[in-house]
Amino acid sequence: MDMKLVFQDAAGFQTPLLAVFAVDVAIGKDADPLIALLTTSDAITNAAATLIASSEFKGSLGEQVVLRGPGGLKAERLLIIGLGKTKNLAVDEVRKAAGAAVRWAKPRGVQQMAIAFPEDHALSDEHMDNLPCTLLSRALVEGAALAERDWDTYKTDRKERSIETFTVVTPSGEESTAREIQVGFEEGRIVVEAQNFARALVNEPSNVLTPTELGRRAAAMCSEKGLKCEVYSTEKLEELKMGAFLAVAKGSAEPPALVVMTYEPALEKGKQPRKDAPVIGLVGKGITFDTGGISLKSAEGMEKMKYDMAGAAAMIGAMHAIAELKPSVKVIGLVCSAENMPSGTAYKPGDVVTAMSGKTIEILNTDAEGRMVLADGLHYAKTLGCTHLIDAATLTGACVVALGMLNAGLFSNDDDTCEHFTRAMQISGEKYWRLPCTDDYRDQIKSQIADIQNTGGSRWGGATTAAMFLKEFAEDTPWIHLDIAGCAWNEEVKPWHPKGPSGVAVRTIVEWVRTYSS
Ligand code: BES
Ligand code: ZN
Ligand code: ZN
Repeated sequence: MDMKLVFQDAAGFQTPLLAVFAVDVAIGKDADPLIALLTTSDAITNAAATLIASSEFKGSLGEQVVLRGPGGLKAERLLIIGLGKTKNLAVDEVRKAAGAAVRWAKPRGVQQMAIAFPEDHALSDEHMDNLPCTLLSRALVEGAALAERDWDTYKTDRKERSIETFTVVTPSGEESTAREIQVGFEEGRIVVEAQNFARALVNEPSNVLTPTELGRRAAAMCSEKGLKCEVYSTEKLEELKMGAFLAVAKGSAEPPALVVMTYEPALEKGKQPRKDAPVIGLVGKGITFDTGGISLKSAEGMEKMKYDMAGAAAMIGAMHAIAELKPSVKVIGLVCSAENMPSGTAYKPGDVVTAMSGKTIEILNTDAEGRMVLADGLHYAKTLGCTHLIDAATLTGACVVALGMLNAGLFSNDDDTCEHFTRAMQISGEKYWRLPCTDDYRDQIKSQIADIQNTGGSRWGGATTAAMFLKEFAEDTPWIHLDIAGCAWNEEVKPWHPKGPSGVAVRTIVEWVRTYSS
């Protein structure tokens, strides 16, 4: 999908379909909807007046209604999309509603469409403070490009329908505003392309996307974007003494892959690199299929476990965007990829393995494999000089039980690092909820015979137990752990997305990295 930004009056823009946003400005829970269009164009408001007055359209989030041949507009059709109540309005609603517009248009064979940049007409100053132009612009681009994807690449009767051009139309107002809109538009394009790259990886079945293939795709992306990339396998893991990672990998006929992607910021002329400059490490769980291993999972829903590399995909996606946004901070992306299989060579409950850090781990459950590969990934990242770590993983069912599918779990050993992350969330619109991993939980991973065990003594608080395990390997390095098990796969169809991979964490990780850019 080609995305364009034009500065002109939307009413005069020639297009087969023009979308415009509407909010419900009614106050009070039981009040009838009072619809206002977010445009300063009288022509658009007039064209939609009868429909709005009819009270057929309630303005709820993602609701769509179309007017054919709207009088006074150059557009052939006017699509009105609801943003919901003003009270709840934030940038994320704009992202979703832009997506809903695209998903209305695509199955109807629309190839060219435009969207009118939401204007402050009906909103108070207080509301507009929550809706800065740069973020609105980003949200339009991101929402549209996320929604445009359908996961039908493996269908032989695939309908070759796509929106070829998506144009954001905004009045040519103040120069500073125009610049903000332009910046948001460009950033949005970079970030959403990266997020879609990650989603496409997660969509791949595990017979296609083996650890080796994941390594190949990461390397191809890096070579295209000018990032350094090394892809290692069993030999290097043995050399590094990654006993935890190797334990998981050895049950499969597919060799593991350790991917190291490096972004180095360009040095300012005549300046030496600062010795105390942060180095950010992104570590992703890349289990291309999780059968559970010898502690085999039940058959029901097991097919979804191809998504168990979504953390790795998020890191590859983040590096994709970082390569283009060029923050002034060094970033190392690490992917720990293996297949978790039961076999004659598989690791077993009761085994004791030695991680790269030297810690011994007693295996209680081979299905707790994600933390095993991440243990060595986190430790390795530190040896590469990372001063700040983040990992993303579809790590525990317990996190899904705790938070459902709207918030991902966030764990950290450092409040300052979390503050950086909170700032990033405000830009990305993604939702994370912090859960504890304080030292008083450490008993959960105390082993009878080794330094630690890979699952908890009790099944309660399983997401925290997993985080406690990872914390053993992050040690004192400021670290964030994102448990994205509930958010990496959209289980429901929404007006703005189909079922399938969400690409969660790409946007926030990219913004988090940028908070360290000097
Ligand atoms: N990949 C799973 C996490 C998962 C489970 C995601 C269910 C979505 C739904 C992970 O490797 C796993 O199997 N975790 C176990 C840990 C347990 C054995 C301590 C779990 O959550 O059941
Ligand atoms: Zn598992
Ligand atoms: Zn897993």
